[in-house]
Amino acid sequence: MDTTIENMINSIDLSAPVPEYEPMRQYYYLKACRKIVKEKSEALNRPLTAVVSTFGCQMNARDSEKLLGILKDIGYQESDDEENADFVIYNTCTVRENANLRVYGRLGQLKKVKRANGEMIIAMCGCMMQEPEVVEKIKTSYKFVDIVFGTFNIFKLAELMYMCFTGDEQVIDIWDSTKEVVEELPTSRKYPFKSGVNIMFGCNNFCTYCIVPYVRGREKSREPKEIIREIERLVSDGVKEVMLLGQNVNSYGKTLDDNVTFAELLREIAKIDGLERIRFMTPHPKDLSDELIEAIRDNSKICNHIHLPLQSGSSRLLKLMNRQYTKEHYLELVDKIRNTIPDISITTDIIVGFPGETEEDFEDTLDVVRKAKYDSAYTFIYSKRTGTPAAKMDGQVSEDIVKDRFNRLLATVSEVSHEHIKRYEGMDMDVLVEDIDDHDNTFVTGRMTNNILVHFKGDKELIGSIVNVHLDECKGFYYMGTKND
Ligand code: SAH
Ligand code: SF4
Ligand code: F3S
Repeated sequence: MDTTIENMINSIDLSAPVPEYEPMRQYYYLKACRKIVKEKSEALNRPLTAVVSTFGCQMNARDSEKLLGILKDIGYQESDDEENADFVIYNTCTVRENANLRVYGRLGQLKKVKRANGEMIIAMCGCMMQEPEVVEKIKTSYKFVDIVFGTFNIFKLAELMYMCFTGDEQVIDIWDSTKEVVEELPTSRKYPFKSGVNIMFGCNNFCTYCIVPYVRGREKSREPKEIIREIERLVSDGVKEVMLLGQNVNSYGKTLDDNVTFAELLREIAKIDGLERIRFMTPHPKDLSDELIEAIRDNSKICNHIHLPLQSGSSRLLKLMNRQYTKEHYLELVDKIRNTIPDISITTDIIVGFPGETEEDFEDTLDVVRKAKYDSAYTFIYSKRTGTPAAKMDGQVSEDIVKDRFNRLLATVSEVSHEHIKRYEGMDMDVLVEDIDDHDNTFVTGRMTNNILVHFKGDKELIGSIVNVHLDECKGFYYMGTKND
């Protein structure tokens, strides 16, 4: 725990009125909740446990680390045993309908558990909670949920928990935009050696299929000095790799008074001593600059990987999607990137079955997949999101056709990526070791700078360090290797 935060919390007098301004207000509630949790834990003669469940993207996962930081600070122990936990929070996602359905499925299960354990506190937050009809449904049909909040006020968790501990109403607090950003709060990282870092929040692009701008609000960049300070702290705490997070990192800086570009930010971050790797997600093809490509080329700390979402290879559909680039522009961009940084890895996101997609449009997508030679691609079936322009478009594609196209896309992606990933076979590469291998505990798993996974013989002592590995054999989308001495 940061000693300055701890000192501030210590200085708070709980018998005084609640401070009006942040972050002192949250420090007050952290202290008040610590007291309540301690009393409950003493009464039960065991520590209280909390489960934070993440349903969404990396930004959602970063939010979960902030939630867990608060929960640990007030005295909960982290657990993954949902059935026996004292506090369960679902950090939800609504980007596609199945993300949404998964949440309701799990919530149904949790209802049964709560019947047996009435003391359990259940909270819901994240992107789904920014949809008014979801909150309405929770109010009427899921009354056993104790706390509901959204994406703009996660920093208030301690205050909301205090309200829950001291009242008997469902606590619901949803904001419709960022009113203030409260940064100086505890966080609990999943990995000691790597961390996500928000560089901006929200999105202004309004791709016609996408619900994110509606649930995450307008684009807002964080000040470069705040970002640098956060990364410096992370590095002094053992972090070697950061993932800079934003829905469209290329437009970083546009909302700031000093016009800083994303490439300039990257160059500044790369100067931080002790930081070894920088990743970022997601750049939008429409405004990926030469300056950015050059920054990646010139800086060995910036990883050799660009995730460049295509969505569709058809210029006609890209226009309907409001992506603001064409098939030709995208392919030119890929060429430019590969010509400037020959050993870069390019990955992508693709949607199949956008309204009005014809066989010809789909063939264009397959054509780009073959030409762009992705190392991997996340493929999604189009999901209609109420409130987005695409939901009202004509020509929703039938399920059979979508499934057929989806399978053909998968086959093409794996053929292309397998062929392309093989190019590293026989090379020696640096690998940041992340974990013990799931299948064999005499092996470890790590990532190369291009984000490709490598498994090799090793033990847990290696976790968090960068080691040089010989790539023996490509197994499709990952490698088997041998550690070099
Ligand atoms: N900001 C990022 C994407 C965030 S959402 C970007 O612009 O690339 C992650 C991915 O989910 C998107 O790239 C898209 O492929 C997919 N996605 C978003 N909305 C979707 C929908 N309605 N149906 C299917 N996939 C969708
Ligand atoms: Fe969604 Fe488009 Fe924004 Fe990405 S850029 S979050 S796909 S609206
Ligand atoms: Fe992420 Fe899902 Fe929200 S993809 S931004 S958690 S809708």
